[in-house]
Amino acid sequence: MSQSAFTSAPLESAGPASPMPVSIFIKQLKEEHLRLTRLVQLLEGALCLRTDATAPNIGLLVDTLFYLTRFPDVTHHVIEDRIVERLLRMNALPTEIGLQIETQHATLITEGRDLLRDLEAATRGGSMSQELVDMRIRLYAERLRHNMAIEELTLFPAAEKNLNADDWRAIEGTGGINEADPLFGSVVDKRFSELYEEINEEVSVAEAGIAS
Ligand SMILES: [Fe+2]
Repeated sequence: MSQSAFTSAPLESAGPASPMPVSIFIKQLKEEHLRLTRLVQLLEGALCLRTDATAPNIGLLVDTLFYLTRFPDVTHHVIEDRIVERLLRMNALPTEIGLQIETQHATLITEGRDLLRDLEAATRGGSMSQELVDMRIRLYAERLRHNMAIEELTLFPAAEKNLNADDWRAIEGTGGINEADPLFGSVVDKRFSELYEEINEEVSVAEAGIAS
């Protein structure tokens, strides 16, 4: 699978001889937000389609939720939670904001996994209320969008202002940040090939619209 404008290589680890500025790590988190926004848009775009076992889009919905619960939930959000904890210990982030971000991540994990379980059941022939599914997908997408907006307005500026390369080394030292992204990384996992093609197709259409 070739690499597209939406894929990215993992960051090089900050070595002791040449510590990378914190802004580089924040830049990566922001780039991940741009990619997550594509998935939010894809979830919202699927709302008008049926979600029973024969619906053509249900596979994409399942893959999107599968990716969101298997990758950002256990890497991107984990790193952000570590940033929150470090900033709270430094009194460099209001406690209320820090707790809000961590609670949002926990809610996204629970709701994402519940939604995925129910969508997977639908692919096996289980029945789902279309109205209820639409509502839950809309709520999940909006929660993720809201979470990213809060982080960009509060967490990232506080991190850039208060954390140094040593702080970041400690944050990434417990693992997670360099894990290969199975959808947007340099090698696309076979499981996500259809989703990958769908996202690139949408990007191509959007770019064609801008150029015309
Ligand atoms: Fe985030």
